[in-house]
Amino acid sequence: MKVGIVGSGDVARSLGKGFVELGDEVRLGSRTPDSDALKAWTAAVGSRGTTGSFADAAGFGDLVVLASHGVENENAIRLAGPRQFGRKIVIDTTNPLAFTPDHRPLLAYGGNDSAGERVQRALPDARVVKAFNTVGHAHMVHPKFPGGPPTMFYCGNDPAAKQQVADLLRRFGWEPADVGGIEGARLLEPMCVAWVTLGILGGSFDIAFKVLRA
Ligand SMILES: NC(=O)c1ccc[n+]([C@@H]2O[C@H](COP(=O)([O-])OP(=O)(O)OC[C@H]3O[C@@H](n4cnc5c(N)ncnc54)[C@H](OP(=O)(O)O)[C@@H]3O)[C@@H](O)[C@H]2O)c1
Repeated sequence: MKVGIVGSGDVARSLGKGFVELGDEVRLGSRTPDSDALKAWTAAVGSRGTTGSFADAAGFGDLVVLASHGVENENAIRLAGPRQFGRKIVIDTTNPLAFTPDHRPLLAYGGNDSAGERVQRALPDARVVKAFNTVGHAHMVHPKFPGGPPTMFYCGNDPAAKQQVADLLRRFGWEPADVGGIEGARLLEPMCVAWVTLGILGGSFDIAFKVLRA
């Protein structure tokens, strides 16, 4: 499979490496695709990993991952060109995270809207599935925790797209949990704030959520 990742930060590089390890071809998109950091990434992952513009990455992928700075999602999509996404599955990993002056995390917006819904509105033909936004990048691929596979929540409007993403989550070592349509992002994005707060207060970001069922 060809995977295009719109974004070049920690999430893009971690997931990109994970897809390469699964045998996929990956193109990371950036406004500066020739940066030293991205040269180091391509050198580390080998010939199945390449870089290009946001448009190159979105056009390259059969599957597209959105890994842009959350409050800049619409700008990243505008730079990529919405037509590059077509009807593709778009995994939205983003959180519209902001910080107070005393460094406490909060969402730039939420409650009755979400980044997931905004991404779906910006890409009305694409099949957006929110996933990977409730854990740190270091644990996105093959998470190892003493309590067994943690839970990765996902949501989206297209059942077939969600099924494919759930299968992918299992391949990446997660226990997938469906929280419904893309409006479920209203639930998942605040979980990122809870995750960051737990990390700050607990002194470690080696944490993940797990749903326990009786
Ligand atoms: N870091 C984590 O552990 C983690 C975990 C879960 C979810 N997330 C979410 O995943 C997303 C990516 O996180 P990250 O930490 O990898 O990176 P990030 O620093 O939040 O975002 C980096 C990406 O955003 C792009 N970007 C920044 N400003 C932009 C602008 N004005 N217009 C268009 N694009 C812009 C950058 O483009 P260039 O490549 O051109 O610089 C870069 O590709 C975020 O929404 C974050 O909340 C992060």
